Amino acid sequence: MQSQLEQLKQAAIDALKTVTDNESLERLRVEVLGRKGKMADLMKQMATLADEERKLVGAAANEVKAAIEAAFGEAEGRAHEAQRAQRAQAEWIDVTEPAIGVRSGMGNLHPVTQVRESLEDLFVSMGFIVEDGPELESDHLNFTALNIPPTHPARDMQDTFYVDGHPDMVMRTQTSPVQIRGMRKYGAPLRLIAPGRVFRNEATDVRHEHTFHQLEGIVVDKGISFSHLKGVLETVAKHLYGADTQIRLRPKFYPFVEPGVNGEVTCFLCKGAGCRLCKKSGWLEVFGAGMVHPNVLREGGVDPDVYSGFAFGFGLTRLVMLKYGIDDIRHLEGGDLRFLKQF
Ligand code: PHE
Repeated sequence: MQSQLEQLKQAAIDALKTVTDNESLERLRVEVLGRKGKMADLMKQMATLADEERKLVGAAANEVKAAIEAAFGEAEGRAHEAQRAQRAQAEWIDVTEPAIGVRSGMGNLHPVTQVRESLEDLFVSMGFIVEDGPELESDHLNFTALNIPPTHPARDMQDTFYVDGHPDMVMRTQTSPVQIRGMRKYGAPLRLIAPGRVFRNEATDVRHEHTFHQLEGIVVDKGISFSHLKGVLETVAKHLYGADTQIRLRPKFYPFVEPGVNGEVTCFLCKGAGCRLCKKSGWLEVFGAGMVHPNVLREGGVDPDVYSGFAFGFGLTRLVMLKYGIDDIRHLEGGDLRFLKQF
């Protein structure tokens, strides 16, 4: 009997080695350990044994049963693990895949960046270089060097962010300081544009924002005249609003130019007839410009007796608002993707 028990144990362990699914495992369990199973059969036979022998065989039977149960436990663990792996394979998902109906990860450029890049291309095609300037600028370059000394009333036109503990620094209120930086760095002759962010301490509303974008330009050479300025501004206006666009220049005071002008373009909405956008005038105010003031040339290290130049500046932010009919300037720096994804 002992050897029958041993055989049963070995057979069960061998059989369990190849079982991987729960169903065959249960079948095997009934076959070996069930009430009418092989183990039970052997137990029944024990009744016929003499007392002494029954004791011995009983002990051995208990050991065999325990060993078989342990083997079942292991096989169960293996079956469970196999099942889990199978399910993981079947239910595999790519968590990085975009949900249905959601746009993929492709972004788009900010509308100000799009207009800026298209203007940079235009100016580069006319021989201009594109220059950066710091947003935290010295009071001197932002104002004084541009012919706006500390007591000059023109400072009041640009509400300025000053910097605690640094009385000589401001958040630049205009891109014009890059005129001086450009002349100092490259000398004359010079054709340069400087797009960038500027800051004003404005109470914000639909038309005013503390942060916006300008694009500055300066040309310095021998014999530069007002007609060169007009030609360049006309080219820019036609690039922006179409070939039939005209420009109109009217006197306006800026301390760093003389003479200074306010540049307007034909309203692209009504083509000059007069509408809501241009407040019935037929013209849209776009540029500030003029001939570079001799003091400013001097600040840039350029001799005004040899060279002359013109400069212009316009609000990139304003161009973008006009181009897309955006009625609230705050959308542009607001960072709301529902707004930005439309461009
Ligand atoms: N810096 C002026 C402004 O911010 C614009 C300007 C630039 C005017 C260059 C004349 C020449 O309003």
